Amino acid sequence: MQNECWGIILAAGQGRRMAEATGGEAKQFLRWKNAPLWWHSAQAMAASPAVHGLVFVFPADKKDEAEAELKKLDKSNNLGVRIATAEGGARRQDSVRHGLEELPPECSSVLVHDSARPFLSTALVTRLARALHDDPGICGVIPGLPVTDTIKEVDDDGVVVETPVRSQLRAVQTPQAFPLEELRMAHAQAEAEGWDVTDDASLMERSELPVLVIEGDPENIKITNPQDLAMLMENKPLLPCCGYGYDVHAYGGSRPLMLGGVEIGGDYLVSAHSDGDVLLHALMDALLGCLAAGDIGHLFPDNDPKFDGISSVVLLDHVMSMAAEAGLRICHVDLTVIAQKPKLAPHADAIRRNVARLLDLPLEHVAFKATTEEKLGFTGELKGLKAVALVSAMR
Ligand code: CTP
Ligand code: MG
Repeated sequence: MQNECWGIILAAGQGRRMAEATGGEAKQFLRWKNAPLWWHSAQAMAASPAVHGLVFVFPADKKDEAEAELKKLDKSNNLGVRIATAEGGARRQDSVRHGLEELPPECSSVLVHDSARPFLSTALVTRLARALHDDPGICGVIPGLPVTDTIKEVDDDGVVVETPVRSQLRAVQTPQAFPLEELRMAHAQAEAEGWDVTDDASLMERSELPVLVIEGDPENIKITNPQDLAMLMENKPLLPCCGYGYDVHAYGGSRPLMLGGVEIGGDYLVSAHSDGDVLLHALMDALLGCLAAGDIGHLFPDNDPKFDGISSVVLLDHVMSMAAEAGLRICHVDLTVIAQKPKLAPHADAIRRNVARLLDLPLEHVAFKATTEEKLGFTGELKGLKAVALVSAMR
């Protein structure tokens, strides 16, 4: 078939502005939703009825590896379009030129796309291809958005030279659609005259060929700087969860009484393998309840010498790391100590503040209560004390 429209997926950059955050990996090879970034643009492009084939431009030193990955991802031709690959060049425009060389004779128009824009929508691809097709007089159709900031042109010293009229400015994106013949000629001229550009539409402008800006897509963002990586976080909805913890320690031991990491001291010595902080133990079990990850007895066995006399604050630290790793967001904790003696009211504020600090929670999201059992049961008989903890969180 003649008059085919092909996409060129540029994936041969080095991602220098991102290198520190990625450990040197070029951004288009970062994995998102189980595939490299470049694959997502390919899927959006191939799903458009306007697109017949794709040329992937990979870095020379990664081409074999990337081709193998492409083969795997496109096994049984999932994309449903024809595929070619090319070797990237030193500048973006060199990579485009190399991509153009791989287009088949049937191809008459082309969509050049930065694979660093993985949120590309198929709708935008189709709108661009249609707009180019519907206006035979036009030499390029590109997506753009009005800018919200006032833009200044500055000189090398940062001194303002000019302020272009904002209403006439557009921040442009890719894909950029062109008739193949015109784009090839523009690239040839750029080579001959040593032009240096950051997008293909610039070449058309320099050749004084008309380029139309149509409405772009605010979501079609280019992953450029380290902070843009946050956009690649999977945003699964968080669900509320609740954990419950309960613990008892006997009096008559050798450990000074600790509650919530605060030393209470006094005559009631606790019997325990660790420091015997009954409140932090209940709290840890409640946190582990949110994670559905067992209990402290299982994590920190009381026959393991390494936990002999250990501070429960250290154990809580470990549980907090587990919580962070599981993506748990603690919202609120409600703690109660049940003890006949000692009197806890004088310590309540210090305990509450310390727990808030340990959990990195605002004070108003840490509740602490103390009660007796009216001289009933083992707490009433001063045989020991107990604590319960409720943690609510999102996960
Ligand atoms: N690109 C390319 N070949 C080059 C340079 C860039 O194929 N020689 C591609 C990039 O992979 C990217 C797109 O062109 O998909 C846009 O370029 P840019 O955002 O500047 O990416 P990088 O050049 O990789 O990043 P940086 O400028 O931070 O080094
Ligand atoms: Mg670049």
